[in-house]
Amino acid sequence: MWQAAAAMSTSQEIITRRLTLAPFAEQFLTRQYVSWLNDPDVVRYSTQRHRKHTLESCRDYWQSYAGTPHHFWAIVEHGQGLGHIGNLNAHVDPHDKVADIGILIGNKEAWRQGYASEAWLAVCRYLFTQAGMRKITAGTCASNAAMLALMNAAGMVEDGRRSRQTLVDGREDDIVYAALFKDSWNPRSVDVPAVSPEC
Ligand SMILES: CC(C)(COP(=O)(O)OP(=O)(O)OC[C@H]1O[C@@H](n2cnc3c(N)ncnc32)[C@H](O)[C@@H]1OP(=O)(O)O)[C@@H](O)C(=O)NCCC(=O)NCCS
Repeated sequence: MWQAAAAMSTSQEIITRRLTLAPFAEQFLTRQYVSWLNDPDVVRYSTQRHRKHTLESCRDYWQSYAGTPHHFWAIVEHGQGLGHIGNLNAHVDPHDKVADIGILIGNKEAWRQGYASEAWLAVCRYLFTQAGMRKITAGTCASNAAMLALMNAAGMVEDGRRSRQTLVDGREDDIVYAALFKDSWNPRSVDVPAVSPEC
């Protein structure tokens, strides 16, 4: 089903209990996806809030992954028929074996149902066990409570902070960085019931 992605990306499909993380492909390049990026609620804490997005800009972004070691997955809910609910990316430094990951659940009706956690934990597992990473990093605004909770639940620890680095709704905010190391990662704490056969 996701074969169109093969030419664009070397990412593997990852399957969890409720989700398929599919290498991003043409069928995910929709007006719905563009609308997420133009929704002030969705991009409130993201640098994407400073841009106007179109199908073309989203295509350019997707194509920027071609020929790189990075990953760009569409998050597809496959139990309740929600379909494509968001995206997850991983910027991989193959020399230092570090991956920086980010997530967006664009479908607001899918928020607070554990989908981001399920996708995040599955990708951490993939990066450590399949992609040879030794450290996974992420960052967010200090006022993004959902992202802080997500990183915390994944076992990430604070890995630096830039004070008063950004403006969120006109207010100064810190950028908080977090990290997860393979040698202190506890896969038993990961509640991802079914992952892809490779994992
Ligand atoms: C942040 C985001 C990915 C969370 O997605 P989600 O599917 O709602 O998250 P989950 O349901 O898996 O919940 C993850 C954790 O966040 C908590 N959480 C979710 N929404 C929250 C909110 N609005 N306020 C406080 N905590 C919240 C959950 O309780 C959970 O914590 P727990 O494990 O301690 O119970 C989603 O809100 C989103 O995509 N927002 C817009 C994009 C964005 O901000 N991306 C990050 C840019 S750096």
